[in-house]
Amino acid sequence: MNICVIGTGYVGLVTGTVFAELGNDVICVDNDSSKIESLDRQVMPIYEPGLGELVERNHNEGRLRFSTDAKSAVEFAEIIFICVGTPSSDGGETDLSAVGAVAETIATHMNGYKIIVNKSTVPVGTGDMVKNIIRINCNADHQFDVVSNPEFLREGQAVHDALKPDRIIIGADEKRVAFKLLELYSSLQAPMIITDVYSAEIIKYASNSFLALKISFINAISNICELVGADVGDVANGVGRDPRIGAQFLSAGLGFGGSCFPKDVKSLLHTSGKLGYEFGLLKEVLEINDGRVDRFVALIRRRFPELRGKSFAVLGLSFKPNTDDMRDARSVEIIKALHGEGAVIRAFDPVAMNAAKKLLPPVAFCQNAYEACNGADAMLLITEWREFKLLNLEKIRRTMKSPVIFDGRNMYDPERKRRLGFEYFGLGRKSPNNRPEKGA
Ligand code: UDX
Repeated sequence: MNICVIGTGYVGLVTGTVFAELGNDVICVDNDSSKIESLDRQVMPIYEPGLGELVERNHNEGRLRFSTDAKSAVEFAEIIFICVGTPSSDGGETDLSAVGAVAETIATHMNGYKIIVNKSTVPVGTGDMVKNIIRINCNADHQFDVVSNPEFLREGQAVHDALKPDRIIIGADEKRVAFKLLELYSSLQAPMIITDVYSAEIIKYASNSFLALKISFINAISNICELVGADVGDVANGVGRDPRIGAQFLSAGLGFGGSCFPKDVKSLLHTSGKLGYEFGLLKEVLEINDGRVDRFVALIRRRFPELRGKSFAVLGLSFKPNTDDMRDARSVEIIKALHGEGAVIRAFDPVAMNAAKKLLPPVAFCQNAYEACNGADAMLLITEWREFKLLNLEKIRRTMKSPVIFDGRNMYDPERKRRLGFEYFGLGRKSPNNRPEKGA
């Protein structure tokens, strides 16, 4: 099939590349010409494992093209995917201006029947909005259908998730249109759920909000664990064995960040309010999440009441491992809080340091974790990159000013770190160092 994907961010680039990999002819469009030029030279604008190779192969074999020319791409395609950003504006409302602008562009260049698919995460009702914009802006009497086909890609595993999705949701008002999308995805072994546009739009927000809810729930449980000296890792293990609950997304720590969860929970909260339903549970999910950084900084402050002049090695800056994405990364808030009180920060991240430089106060960026920890009063583990798990901590301990670890992701085994001579602090973990004052 001839496909056009508008927007070459995480979602658009991965989606377009995977459609090409499935044998379709794909044009990925973006109005950022420097991005398109780099993609043409096969320089990836983002760090995403496996994506570069896939782009290279499909580009070289002529199935995947990059362009700023929306007109030609719209004319060429039978199915057009909208994959542009939908950021949060103040108050949590989703900013749909990019989606609206793309709908207008499509309308202007339509040369016949088109299926227009919303892959961007958009609030319920956006399909109607796109339909109206196209109707108003299309001069000729071309037929079209609007479909909702949300993505569920995790950054860092996006290629895997796109090639092996756990479900494909197709929200269409006509069976005939849904079947066209089914055909496009037919070579992927995944359950396909066909529903109406509104339900498909809600599925995306309900999924992300539920996952965020799980994280905040276990983080609230971790607060109780700290108060009594229980271990949240053991609790999550016990709870997650119940298949009705499931073991995933029960890792307590600094909470969720990234480009999706914070924005999507706020958006669903806002939409439900607008529809007349106060979704108080989601407010609590956000409040618990917002409190994680304060709790972590309080833990550091209890151990180091005078932060001025203390040197902290920050390991991990991206919002999660295997990505260079710094959107809503917990590292930024933590570093700003400590730096604001006069602490010296020595940071290392395997891939996100360039992206982080624009967002952080003056910090020393190091070549590796060992350099960051050299002379430090404490190590702060913020992002659980696998390479941090494999560090030679014996060697690190010898170079630190004081052997103290604050583990924001509960990645290390407290007992083993204690045996290695570290003072270990996790979140909600059983450790002699970990008891906060009651009520904290
Ligand atoms: C998420 C959804 O998983 C994906 O389906 C959707 O399409 C986009 O949003 P992503 O934001 O890439 O993907 O990251 P994810 O792996 O889901 O993690 C989100 C955040 O939750 C990260 O900050 C992570 O550190 C945190 N998290 C995750 C926890 O704090 N605990 C957990 O148990 C799991």
